Amino acid sequence: MIPVILSGGSGTRLWPVSRQQMPKQFCTIFDKSLQTFTLQRSLRLGSPWIVTSKALQTLTELNLKDNKASGVQVVYEPFGKNTAPAIAVLCQLLKLQGKADEVVGIFPSDHLITKEDVFLNVVEFAASVAKDNKVVTLGIKPSYPETGYGYIQTEPTSFKDKGSLKAFSVVKFHEKPSLEKAQEFLAHGSFSWNAGIFVFKVSHMASLFEKHQPEMWALVSTLKADSSNLEEIYTKVKSISIDYAIMEHLSGGELTCIPAEFGWSDVGSWDAVASLQKGHEVLNVSGKDNFVFGDDDKHYSFVGIDDVIVVDTKDALMLVKKGHSQDVRHVVEALTKQQ
Ligand code: GDD
Ligand code: MG
Repeated sequence: MIPVILSGGSGTRLWPVSRQQMPKQFCTIFDKSLQTFTLQRSLRLGSPWIVTSKALQTLTELNLKDNKASGVQVVYEPFGKNTAPAIAVLCQLLKLQGKADEVVGIFPSDHLITKEDVFLNVVEFAASVAKDNKVVTLGIKPSYPETGYGYIQTEPTSFKDKGSLKAFSVVKFHEKPSLEKAQEFLAHGSFSWNAGIFVFKVSHMASLFEKHQPEMWALVSTLKADSSNLEEIYTKVKSISIDYAIMEHLSGGELTCIPAEFGWSDVGSWDAVASLQKGHEVLNVSGKDNFVFGDDDKHYSFVGIDDVIVVDTKDALMLVKKGHSQDVRHVVEALTKQQ
């Protein structure tokens, strides 16, 4: 399979560590950056491609150099138009290279996967399902009504198994539902979260773009092998994610889902980080459950305060009460307005 890393996004919820010039995937929040983890996993699956934005070229090249990863093909988009154009461009370039029959795995660059061997086994199974012209998603058991994820409703019985892994036809894909809908899906029991990973055959995905996004495909299919007209195409192409552009349109067994547990997290907030790692050593005096992401040379003490997350960087200090870290993006919005 051809592993493809999508890394053109720039989140704001891990501020002040993650910045516009240094998005989450390049930050070392765990032992290595999420981009490095993703690259190393991908190298175990085949010869990776990266689709990212021109603005991240220096960081991308440094990361490849640090990982001694040669032979990785990188597509630099002139600017971000979300994930659908990125995937359409990838399909067109692979078609031009005579790789229409290959199976591709799309991997977000900013997720943490702790059970790598289990994950690789799931992806191999997904590739075998995708060969039969099916788009495969990986499903995560939902634990709360998150509104920032896609939800996948599956049929009750699987159509293909491999050991304990089961592939199900998808009844419907719902991207980023309202809170009421998310609560309904959670209570229903037959829904998974979409892990944001998609496995498909290049020619098949190209035909789905042609059917469901004809204007986008009409533009992208004019892309030349040397990408010399990419900017011209990107100026005209609409900005939309693959979830809305394609996944929500698929039905009747076209879309499939393999539910699996491989220690997945999209590390979407400081609360998520605090639940995934120990953090800095702190001294709690009549305080508990405080978390620090900070400077190794400093002492951090808490007196009479509980459940606080402290993020301490060279030029910014942020304190947030646990459970509120989704709102960190509002700090970034406010600071951006001030500039
Ligand atoms: N090349 C490129 N260009 N990559 C992009 C762009 C772009 O314009 N925009 C985003 N990406 C990359 C991001 O860096 C990330 O690795 C991946 O594509 C997914 O984009 P996000 O913006 O993080 O998507 P999301 O988190 O809102 O939603 C997706 O992931 C969820 C799981 O984390 C969806 O697939 C949801 O359904 C899913 O639940
Ligand atoms: Mg994301």
